[in-house]
Amino acid sequence: MNKKQYVLALDLGTTGNRAILFDANGGVVGQSYGELTQYYPHPGWLEHDPMEIWQDTRSSMQQVLRSTGVAPKEIAAIGLTVQRETCLLWDKTTGRPLHNAIVWQDRRTADMCRKLVEMGAADRLEDSTGLVLDAYFSATKIAWLLDWVKANHPETNLDNILAGTIDTWVLWNLTGRNVHATDHSNASRTMLMNLADATWDDSLLALFGIPPHFMPEIRPSMGDFGTLDEEILGIPIPITAIFGDQQAALFAHGCDLPGMLKCTYGTGCFLISQTGGELTRSRNRLLSTVAWTQSKDGQLQANYALEGAMFTTGACIQWLRDGLQLIRSAPETEPLSLKVDDTNGAYFVPALSGLGTPHWDMNARGAFVGITGGVRREHIVRSVLEAIAYQVKEVVDAMNRDGDTPISRLKVDGGASQNNFLMQFQADALGVPVERPAILDATAQGAAFGAGLAAGSWDDYGMLVHQRKVDRVFEPGAGSTQAQGNFTDWQRAVERAKNWAM
Ligand code: G3P
Repeated sequence: MNKKQYVLALDLGTTGNRAILFDANGGVVGQSYGELTQYYPHPGWLEHDPMEIWQDTRSSMQQVLRSTGVAPKEIAAIGLTVQRETCLLWDKTTGRPLHNAIVWQDRRTADMCRKLVEMGAADRLEDSTGLVLDAYFSATKIAWLLDWVKANHPETNLDNILAGTIDTWVLWNLTGRNVHATDHSNASRTMLMNLADATWDDSLLALFGIPPHFMPEIRPSMGDFGTLDEEILGIPIPITAIFGDQQAALFAHGCDLPGMLKCTYGTGCFLISQTGGELTRSRNRLLSTVAWTQSKDGQLQANYALEGAMFTTGACIQWLRDGLQLIRSAPETEPLSLKVDDTNGAYFVPALSGLGTPHWDMNARGAFVGITGGVRREHIVRSVLEAIAYQVKEVVDAMNRDGDTPISRLKVDGGASQNNFLMQFQADALGVPVERPAILDATAQGAAFGAGLAAGSWDDYGMLVHQRKVDRVFEPGAGSTQAQGNFTDWQRAVERAKNWAM
């Protein structure tokens, strides 16, 4: 890459939107971040305002250029990576969303899922899409949104409606309302894409009552997504990559060979293991999903993955801060947890949005058990961090049961991986080393790598991955016996929190 060139990554996550500028060596030059408003209209529901996401994206792009002094003409390409599954409907004539976006954590369609299970649709859905029938995915959310529009705005002309996940919505706006597309990694999370042929499945669209013309075109993750509307930064810039955020992190870590895996500690925790060009099925309730795709000599090349999705990680820490007001900032959880040797018998079940892999219980709810009079604030905080690590242990155990070679090292990233107590406890609980990179924004880094490679600014993926530095490796230590010993009690607590919201 020309020394003066940069790649701009837009990382639009659940809790906030970020624009990060990467230089020719793949290093971070500057970034701009804004927290995103969370709307909780009912218990178990969560919405985002799509206009806020778009306006924040636009202003964070402008802001990062202002703060770094980089000119738009120095940007070779833009890559986009987003919170997955969150989806919306909008009117293409007005550009206005028809309702807030329904966030992946939202459980409002749990009943719809239950009915589909009763109809016997679960196996067929799992077969076609690789996903477990759950309110987590977009299909039931889009169906709910359409029902809402029909009931509340019967005058709406359905021919003008477009549907999309957040990448599709933002891409449509970035390109001046020109390109209505997504990539295979995001499409594979909607529960509407057939994994075997990587296209929208007409029979699934019919099952959910979604008109096919709502759906965006599915394109390779690395390739042509159009150009940036000149209105935004003054010149057109190619948009050359879109990834779901968890798949982007997998790409950044260099996990491109079967068995290579990473765990991102963001709003939720997502442990993804690369399975290569072969679609692999789990026997332990892991998801089969697309890691990324690209087109080589006119042929679609897909990399697949197995995934364990745990819904609330950073979200639990945010709840300690904003909901319970037990802490003033997330980093405080580390010294507080270290003040005590254990949780004094308290266990936390992080089911604030139900439970994902391996339980898949939409009706589980968060719980504290084992509370006695001696339990103090630091025990509660520590029990929340321990629960995050125990969730990951459950998924690692499921992956070990699925595969022939046990996991021997865990590569991590994401905001909560900054927490040294959490990472040490994770290593102790798993009994394997946990490796933390210097740049924790692996999601943005993956989108930047993908965009720069697709634009031809870089040609050596191996070199990009190689220059990433490791910050610290946490080896299992003296705490292992206690961490592993308490795991069974934590699992007992999980059983108590199941099926709560029936
Ligand atoms: O599947 C949901 C996931 O993509 C959300 O990621 O980074 O917002 O926790 P994050």
